[in-house]
Amino acid sequence: MEEKCEQIFPKIGETAPDFEAVTTQGTIRLSDFKGKWVILFSHPADFTPVCTTEFVAFAKINDELKKRNVQLMGLSIDSVYSHIAWLRRIKEKLGVEIPFPVIGDIDMKVAKLFGMIHAGESTTAAIRCVFFIDQDMILRAMVYYPLNVGRNMEEILRLIIALQTADIHKVATPANWRPGDKVIVPPPSTMEAAEKRSTEGFEYIDWFLCKKELATPDYV
Ligand code: BEZ
Repeated sequence: MEEKCEQIFPKIGETAPDFEAVTTQGTIRLSDFKGKWVILFSHPADFTPVCTTEFVAFAKINDELKKRNVQLMGLSIDSVYSHIAWLRRIKEKLGVEIPFPVIGDIDMKVAKLFGMIHAGESTTAAIRCVFFIDQDMILRAMVYYPLNVGRNMEEILRLIIALQTADIHKVATPANWRPGDKVIVPPPSTMEAAEKRSTEGFEYIDWFLCKKELATPDYV
């Protein structure tokens, strides 16, 4: 009989499970980063081609993320020594320094805690997960990719900016939203407010679908 995966996956809106882990930058706890956003991402294995391209790409968006108070954190089921050797090779061959800590999760403790192992793909390697964790350690978004498809950094940046914009301005973002585009005004919740909606100066498509420009768009 096929063995079922009994992992309990963390859910959006819940507090992210705290952990202590060894990394390429020393021992860290997730809760040490309270007050910052954290993007915790897993990769299947060191010294593999797709992961190498992703690490270079993550390093390239790191400055953009820092400006937005976001800490990147990598993870794979490899040792810290393997990570160190791989990051040194990336620097040597591709000229890119990896500026964020990479967790050596050799005992799969963090991978299991976050549901990063999807047995249909691999029982020994994490899939390509991205967890977006806010300043209060609430898990706000999750993105999962399989082993053979590298992630899109524009989407990762777009998603973190959308989450932060939604929080700061108390709005939502429409399909294909990009920083600078109009945002969605929360729909009215009373008949009276619905009646007034067309008079409030928004781009009015219907009472439940109105958009507005942000006076101070929160992007750099
Ligand atoms: C890669 O990063 O190239 C890779 C890693 C694990 C499985 C397949 C591809």
